Amino acid sequence: MQNISKLKGRYLVEPEDLTLEEMESLFNLAENIEKDDAYLRESCRGKLLATLFFEPSTRTRLSFEAAMLRLGGSCLGFAEPGSSSASKGESLADTIRMAACYADAIVMRNPKEGAALLASRYSSVPVINAGDGGHHHPTQTLTDLLTIRRLLGKIGNLTVGFCGDLKFGRTVHSLAKALSRYVNIKMIFISPAELTLPDYIKSILQKHKIEYYEKENLDDSIQELDVLYMTRVQRERFFNEEDYIRLKDTYVLNSGRMSQAKEKMIVLHPLPRVNEISVEVDSDPRAAYFTQAKYGMYVRMALLAAILGAGQC
Ligand code: NCD
Repeated sequence: MQNISKLKGRYLVEPEDLTLEEMESLFNLAENIEKDDAYLRESCRGKLLATLFFEPSTRTRLSFEAAMLRLGGSCLGFAEPGSSSASKGESLADTIRMAACYADAIVMRNPKEGAALLASRYSSVPVINAGDGGHHHPTQTLTDLLTIRRLLGKIGNLTVGFCGDLKFGRTVHSLAKALSRYVNIKMIFISPAELTLPDYIKSILQKHKIEYYEKENLDDSIQELDVLYMTRVQRERFFNEEDYIRLKDTYVLNSGRMSQAKEKMIVLHPLPRVNEISVEVDSDPRAAYFTQAKYGMYVRMALLAAILGAGQC
């Protein structure tokens, strides 16, 4: 637990802003919270969290708000840019400087890549990136890693398959980058040729000497996976609707495909799903995406408590 105090006042723009040890400490804290409902309760009383969402969100915004309220703190903010002064032409830098006057920390989602980095430069209070365009989503990565650790007992010696929109899917970029720091992780990237992983993420994998493969067919690889990370095709990032319509149903995980997978494989998805996992899979014990959403709240509680320097941390 000793590393948590070092997180007080820290900003989280991308996964590498946390060391592996710091992430492990957050996971330990999140597991304590999961075990004991009263753990850290009220530890953020009197603290305010600004949630600035310039893009739609259900889980990320609600789980941050639930996390802050469960810690005894309060939230203020907006769920769509139309209700903020951005619609009057205010710059992001000014909006952030304002929010930093009112709140003790800022959680922001923005459609532009790099927006979180810019916000971190203008904010006098910690900024947490809740998604910047097709770039990164580090708290989803904490959620994904905690889920893997809780359900498989370890993060290491695993074959992880990523399937769907690997080009625009920021959760994939952040998770692949974070996993490249763990021991003996093999990655299989399954996507249509037009939606492959960006080169800058591949260079990071190469730098870490990760064994990885790019494939187009899910059926060829599903048997060897320990984790299958499904993603939706990111409609809002396409330049034209026709391409989206052509690609959106490339992969559909159904019971037939699940029957080829390992008995202990887990299926993750950052959600929302569209058609890529059929509802018949929900009752399969390997379907972990709703449990994953719950771990998102625990790990965000741990993160907020640590960043805000809450009592017992
Ligand atoms: C993801 C996101 O916003 O990137 N959702 C989430 O935060 N849970 C994935 C997505 O929208 O497809």
